[in-house]
Amino acid sequence: EKGGYEHFMLKEIHEQPKAIRDTYRGRLLSDEAIIKMAGVEDNMKTFLNANRIIIIACGTSWHAGLVAEYIFEEFARIPVEVEYASEFRYRNPVINENDVVIAISQSGETADTLAAIKLAKSRGAFVFGVCNVVGSSIARETHAGAYTHAGPEIGVASTKAFTTQITVLTLIALRLARAKGTMSSSDFRLYLRELELIPQKVEQLLNVDDHVKDIARQYLLSPNCLYLGRGYNFPVALEGALKLKEISYIHAEGYPAAEMKHGPIALIDDRMPVIVIATSKGHYEKVVSNIQEIKSRKGKIIAVVTQGDTAVKEIADHVIEIPESEEAFSPLLTTIPLQLLSYHIAVMRNCNVDQPRNLAKSVTVE
Ligand code: M6R
Repeated sequence: EKGGYEHFMLKEIHEQPKAIRDTYRGRLLSDEAIIKMAGVEDNMKTFLNANRIIIIACGTSWHAGLVAEYIFEEFARIPVEVEYASEFRYRNPVINENDVVIAISQSGETADTLAAIKLAKSRGAFVFGVCNVVGSSIARETHAGAYTHAGPEIGVASTKAFTTQITVLTLIALRLARAKGTMSSSDFRLYLRELELIPQKVEQLLNVDDHVKDIARQYLLSPNCLYLGRGYNFPVALEGALKLKEISYIHAEGYPAAEMKHGPIALIDDRMPVIVIATSKGHYEKVVSNIQEIKSRKGKIIAVVTQGDTAVKEIADHVIEIPESEEAFSPLLTTIPLQLLSYHIAVMRNCNVDQPRNLAKSVTVE
């Protein structure tokens, strides 16, 4: 059942090329330059007339929502807010029939997300679901939706659900961008082709496994870890930290790289590993100077860079290379080595990777 892998998590990490492909299959038609999603098409007016989009989710799904915020705003120029379902539902939120809510949930059973959906509906908002489990409570409770086609995710740590959620949300953003005219048809074509290339890039990227394992070996006894990223990769930093803490029990935090100087930099010493995402098109120069600040305080740098990088290589203790892509799609790549890093550290620490202590796959209680 684990298909020859030692754990479901590793199997699911390796399934991502297929999962992403399955998710856009039949929806992304690059030759015709169209995106076909019935749930979006049937409600196009509602999406286009929305004052804003509010994304609600928990955990890793919330991180996918944060990535989507950057993509929706950039591509479709629609204001987006991303909320923890648990906070949203108890805040008496200002929400009405002019709002579109997108609820994201792998399991479709998360209690806080379900309650937030009911609240949004009661205030007249249109609620669109992005779920993995077909026929789940959230899939049934939402007005419309689009499934991720990740296949069953068994490991408690979410991996392929995350990348397929980002894929579905990217397709929606692209479709709305075309409908609104905020993206030219040539850019639209280019992005479709680029998105289609992601699965093979992920496949190629999975070859970094041994290298990541070597890095994992050197940091498995660290009590703390920092993750930094900017722009599209800020949410990836949060996700990297969540993955490490939930399966290896190492304390980890994710930050937007520029926030370092507002506090966390005080933590840096020669025992602090800092994982920095420094892709070539993503505020690169600024991230390089963030890396220099950490290095001058003797922090250990593990950098995720684009193939061909030279500047970061000179200062980082370790680099992990990812294939080049459009920056907006880079979270689909940068996430992969961070999943592998957490996985290997957890295995080396003899942790129960697929069923970490105190956690459940679906959190059906609040
Ligand atoms: O099924 P959901 O996507 O609604 O679950 C939300 C979170 O409970 C989930 O993502 C959790 O954070 C994972 N264990 C993270 O790996």
